[in-house]
Amino acid sequence: MDRSLSHDERDLVLERFHLLVNAPALFNALVTALELDLFAALSGQPSSFDELRVVTGLPPHSLRVLLHAVCTTGLLERHDGWYTNSPVAEEMLTRDGPDSWRHILVGWREIYYPAFARLTEALKAGTNAALAAHPGDEPTLYQRLSHAPEQEAVFHRAMSAFTLRSVEALVETEEFASVHRLLDVGGGDGTTSARLTARYPQLSSTIFDIPSVSKLAERTTAPDFGDRVTVHPGDLFADPFPAGSDTVLFSHVLEIFSGEQIVTLLAKAHRILPPGGRVLIYGYNVSDDETKGWYSARLSLYLNALASGQGMAYPARDYEEWLRQADFQQVRTLTDYPYEHGLHIGVKLS
Ligand SMILES: C[S@@+](CC[C@H](N)C(=O)[O-])C[C@H]1O[C@@H](n2cnc3c(N)ncnc32)[C@H](O)[C@@H]1O
Repeated sequence: MDRSLSHDERDLVLERFHLLVNAPALFNALVTALELDLFAALSGQPSSFDELRVVTGLPPHSLRVLLHAVCTTGLLERHDGWYTNSPVAEEMLTRDGPDSWRHILVGWREIYYPAFARLTEALKAGTNAALAAHPGDEPTLYQRLSHAPEQEAVFHRAMSAFTLRSVEALVETEEFASVHRLLDVGGGDGTTSARLTARYPQLSSTIFDIPSVSKLAERTTAPDFGDRVTVHPGDLFADPFPAGSDTVLFSHVLEIFSGEQIVTLLAKAHRILPPGGRVLIYGYNVSDDETKGWYSARLSLYLNALASGQGMAYPARDYEEWLRQADFQQVRTLTDYPYEHGLHIGVKLS
């Protein structure tokens, strides 16, 4: 089909092209600025170059180079020699806490982005070629990280921070008001279960994850939730799911795997649920026409270059089809979640 672009559309793509080809360097400048507390220092007040030298401890030439780089992104502004945060930087980059972008971007820099150097090789071979950089012989990054506890901690801090940015909308979904016993499959360090348990007094949760991650989950949840959040270490495919839950949640988990593996996992969930039990799948969805979603695209590429060598941010219709194949009924998708997320729901009727 021949479709000519308007001038505005062409200019937008051209501007994105120029940003894109410089983005790896600018991304690193942004992470460095976060690590040096630049945005926090500028919160609510302009600063001079000399004041920023004291804050960052950088030599003057290094600071000059860094400030120029961050100013080109629009995140910092410079007026009459004074530097200020842009409104976006003020809103998103000044606070440090468990959900801070610093944790997310340090994780992406340390673990995700080195792998992208092998993307062509990985996509040609159809395997996660970049996994070779991680010690061990297991087929996925998640399992291999258990041999490198410091990297595993960086990974889960980043995962947890990003999850905190999308989890509130999930937590407020009315489905959870009637959940009593949740099985949080691939529940990671427990961030999602902790938020749900804090919000719903009737809800208790069991986190199912590999043993090293289960230890992280125990450490984050035990002090605040006692036995309302428990862990059940195991392997998704090799071990049975614990029985006794009325709802099974897969949050940011199924997208790691192939369609066939996803049906296997959904069928396992179906087997342990009572009649009336539900399965909830939360994660990234590409648009139906598979042309939109920067966050989904990044995730899909990372999964295929590094994490598992398969999977993607599948569109909603794929999950709905797999839920039906696993015998779930009343299948539906809730949309309008942040960061390109969707929630897919199926009910076990009998
Ligand atoms: C992307 S993280 C999602 C964490 C959490 N559910 C969230 O939304 O923040 C995927 C989780 O699946 C777990 N996982 C991956 N493969 C697994 C396997 N074979 N058995 C058990 N857990 C696995 C990982 O350890 C990791 O915690």
